[in-house]
Amino acid sequence: MTPSHVLVTRSLTAAAMSAAQRLLAPLVVLDDAPPDRAELLRSARGAVAIVSLLTEQIDDELFDAAGGQLRIVANVAAGVDNIDLEAAARRGILVSNTPGVLDEATADLALALILATTRRIVEADRFIRSAEQWIWGPKDWVGLQVSAGATVGIVGLGRIGMAVARRAHAFGARIIATGSRSSGPEAAALEVVPVGLDELFETADVVTLHCPLTSETRGMVDAARLKSMRQGSYLINTGRGPLVDEDALADALEEGRLAGAGLDVHENEPLVNERLRRSDRVVLLPHIGSAGAATRDAMGLLAVRNVAEVLAGRRPITPVD
Ligand code: GLV
Repeated sequence: MTPSHVLVTRSLTAAAMSAAQRLLAPLVVLDDAPPDRAELLRSARGAVAIVSLLTEQIDDELFDAAGGQLRIVANVAAGVDNIDLEAAARRGILVSNTPGVLDEATADLALALILATTRRIVEADRFIRSAEQWIWGPKDWVGLQVSAGATVGIVGLGRIGMAVARRAHAFGARIIATGSRSSGPEAAALEVVPVGLDELFETADVVTLHCPLTSETRGMVDAARLKSMRQGSYLINTGRGPLVDEDALADALEEGRLAGAGLDVHENEPLVNERLRRSDRVVLLPHIGSAGAATRDAMGLLAVRNVAEVLAGRRPITPVD
């Protein structure tokens, strides 16, 4: 491996790669697929910076393999749960993420999942592809109507949560939310009602998760929380899979307490829970919240710029504290 190189653990979009080639030489770029662990450790040796993806575990073992000249890990994601932040801080290695640039794309997807589950779009699509014949019926395919004033509960009204609130407000939903910004001026303009976590789960027709995965939030949506949800309500997760106990979610769906769930992220990614896979009322996506073309370019570019700033002796643009 080139000593003092910048390692990009997986190839990014063309725009991001061309910025990386321009700004970050010498560059070592691994393949499209996630590297196996041995390859990751080997290619990190001597790196001054690592541009990492959420598929890579960045921890003490990797820092040891990289050696003492590593200055920054620039994650191409808003979430940093794949990085041992304490280990990085202990070694004086900076960490950056890509907040802000993916809010709209992720909120678009959360709304798509809310509509897909409540209006049963994917289930209806599967039906019409397999049906020999069908006829319109006044009681068929009826689902919750968000635009008729359903209550959407946003867990974690941060940047992405607020982008979801703007969309839900435009759809005519009543919005309740947790998080520090839920009593701020933007929330007030969207008529957001700030509530505690218990009240949110007990009263929302649709609960949508937008909080980071931390030791406090891991497993937050467990059997007890799911039992506290309204009969016929929905759970949407575009945050991180381990926020939800998926077996408990499958129980809640099988018992008929929850009417549906929309999951872009999975507890044991990339594995998908078999019971959820079998359920017609669950819409499952392969972690595509940020997969808008403009957003994926912007995420890669921001990570590249974070590294360039640090190599020039400055602070990253979007450091993780
Ligand atoms: C995607 O999941 C991200 O954290 O950016």
